[in-house]
Amino acid sequence: MAFKMMWCTVALGLLLPFSYAHTDFFTSIGHMTDLINTEKDLVVSLKDYIKAEESKLEQIKKWAEKLDQLTDTATKDPEGFLGHPVNAFKLMKRLNTEWGELESLVLKDMSDGFISNMTIQRQFFPNDEDQTGAAKALLRLQDTYNLDTDTLSRGNLPGVKHKSFLTAEDCFELGKIAYTEADYYHTELWMEQALKQLDEGEVSSADKVYILDYLSYAVYQQGDLRKAMMLTKRLLELDPEHQRANGNMKYFEYIMAKEKEANKSSTDSEDHLEKETEFKKKDYLPERRKYEMLCRGEGLKMTPRRQKRLFCRYYDGNRNPRYILGPVKQEDEWDKPRIVRFLDIISDEEIETVKELAKPRLSRATVHDPETGKLTTAHYRVSKSAWLSGYESPVVSRINTRIQDLTGLDVSTAEELQVANYGVGGQYEPHFDFARKDEPDAFKELGTGNRIATWLFYMSDVSAGGATVFPEVGASVWPRKGTAVFWYNLFPSGEGDYSTRHAACPVLVGNKWVSNKWLHERGQEFRRPCTLSELE
Ligand code: OGA
Ligand code: FE2
Repeated sequence: MAFKMMWCTVALGLLLPFSYAHTDFFTSIGHMTDLINTEKDLVVSLKDYIKAEESKLEQIKKWAEKLDQLTDTATKDPEGFLGHPVNAFKLMKRLNTEWGELESLVLKDMSDGFISNMTIQRQFFPNDEDQTGAAKALLRLQDTYNLDTDTLSRGNLPGVKHKSFLTAEDCFELGKIAYTEADYYHTELWMEQALKQLDEGEVSSADKVYILDYLSYAVYQQGDLRKAMMLTKRLLELDPEHQRANGNMKYFEYIMAKEKEANKSSTDSEDHLEKETEFKKKDYLPERRKYEMLCRGEGLKMTPRRQKRLFCRYYDGNRNPRYILGPVKQEDEWDKPRIVRFLDIISDEEIETVKELAKPRLSRATVHDPETGKLTTAHYRVSKSAWLSGYESPVVSRINTRIQDLTGLDVSTAEELQVANYGVGGQYEPHFDFARKDEPDAFKELGTGNRIATWLFYMSDVSAGGATVFPEVGASVWPRKGTAVFWYNLFPSGEGDYSTRHAACPVLVGNKWVSNKWLHERGQEFRRPCTLSELE
């Protein structure tokens, strides 16, 4: 990612609308709204340019019409015309000065203002990497939320306010990005969609021959020789001279003939294969699949019997003087690990303050690289985050106190409040918040031990997607603005609770704001004493 630091400058009387580092637009909605404003400014500037160009053309037209009439009369009777002394003078004047002025007018560049605006703003535009990132996010969403290509292309997503569809050209572009990633599965889906939209009569500059070229290759790569041949045939009907397609066709025919021969000698081996695949274990689901299912709201592992033991209550923080008269609403979200949700626990005003404090500092969230011990960015954590200290604002300090009161844990040893913003496609794949035994140095600098518990505020609703899911136990927690969830990452013995493995699902529509507090072991010795058993 080209990392360009750009600060607010006044140039050509134009105040640049934002001053953030240019990096990873697609990871947060905050920076993208600035782009919308930039684009709006550019449209205004473009319209000014059109007006200037139109008025110039209008002047030229008037001149041409006037001269048209005049030369008409003059050429009909040149001598008579010039017999009038005024006409003679005017001809001299026209040719000596007026045509020159017109020449200057024709040559005059009206695009100055627009072009200089454009040049300035372009420094802040997304680059190829941003575009690829946004495309990949779209493909990721397609997988996670099981969206079929047509639905996505027609913009039929749940919870959308502004419907938007993809053109055949857009689909082709997505297919090409998948292709450069050697992701032939998505290449096929999107090239097929582009073709479908063209077949349905969409007017487009996308070229069927190009699309078929990519499509047949993607299909071939996935092993469907017959379909690859059929597509290549279609390509050759449109462009019989296409060299690569002709070459491929010959190659496909050769492979096909060879396969037929091989099949003749061993007909029953195919049967065997089919039976074997049937035996694939149905229960075994790799974590990725579990995670994606939970994100879609499928695969919840709660029984009615256990559900009955989940309650809601008013909670006074164990007779905390600040909550005796005004206890807070608490709901059990899950039993094992115990996850509780607090309702109306952060006000809209507080949320606004926290967001405003965080916005100018949002940068791509980092994770610990266990090999180097350093912080780096990772594709599995796509969001922007910032840290807020209790010292910088009474609101942050009040929030910290609230967490201390309601968890009964000391927040003086906690990390600062982390604010995170996930844009469309933003996610955090399954992880533990605590450090495992094989990474004893993870929180060494803090000197306050491991992350004993997590407090997570939901500071926005999310139109679609964006749940917090726990794949080990099959739990999904949906964001609800103004609420917070809390769970312990460690057993009282200090052992890590592996059932707390969790993830932030990609945002499908809208954007997600959270803030979280990671509480640490030190200071909790008497607040949450050790028990005799290790894993309870
Ligand atoms: C985290 C995390 C969950 C979420 O930041 O560690 O797990 O839903 N966040 O944002
Ligand atoms: Fe987490």
